[in-house]
Amino acid sequence: MPFTPDSELDLLFPSEYISQDVRSQLHPSLHIRPLASTDYKRGHLSILSVLTVVSDPGEEAWLAQFNAMRAAQRTYYSLVIVDRASDQIAAVGTVFIERKFLRGLGSVGHIEDIAVDKNQQGKKLGLRVIQALTTISENSGCYKTILNCSDSNIPFYQKCGYEKKENEMAKYA
Ligand code: ACO
Repeated sequence: MPFTPDSELDLLFPSEYISQDVRSQLHPSLHIRPLASTDYKRGHLSILSVLTVVSDPGEEAWLAQFNAMRAAQRTYYSLVIVDRASDQIAAVGTVFIERKFLRGLGSVGHIEDIAVDKNQQGKKLGLRVIQALTTISENSGCYKTILNCSDSNIPFYQKCGYEKKENEMAKYA
């Protein structure tokens, strides 16, 4: 599949929200951009499968979720790194913005679902995804950006400038 420029895609949020600094540090064979409505076809779910077991809801349901995220304006920011040669996704990540009554009606950015294709790991794609998402969070006015991760990923997030704080609690339905 030939590379599709941002101008020909239906995007989750404006491309300009992605840091120029991060763009300029990416290898020329790669491109970073917001998630697009056609990214189901570019392997979005298969990239996420490096993170956890992924069940495929089908393209129609995937698109309905994309549209619901976009309708919640200024809340969901999912981005992808695309391999220009194949037009397939190599890395993904999301930050969503929580609005609070505390902290002077402040906001918090929650980073979720970071995944890099197995063949592309260790080439700083994860770092670039985190840098781009953190910039979006900070430019959205968030006073902090947080995430949950396994112990084995702590060194990665430390390399991205994050530090360990408190504990995660979970209750599965
Ligand atoms: N342990 C120690 N150091 C690490 C690790 C690790 N597990 N992973 C990366 N690093 C280091 C790298 O060596 C590099 O260090 P350097 O700057 O000294 O060279 C730095 O962190 C940046 O690494 P990247 O090359 O950007 O890492 P990568 O592109 O492989 O992305 C990621 C890291 C996202 C963890 C990837 O390996 C991956 O997709 N893993 C499987 C899915 C996963 O665990 N996702 C994160 C879940 S947590 C969440 O989503 C909030």
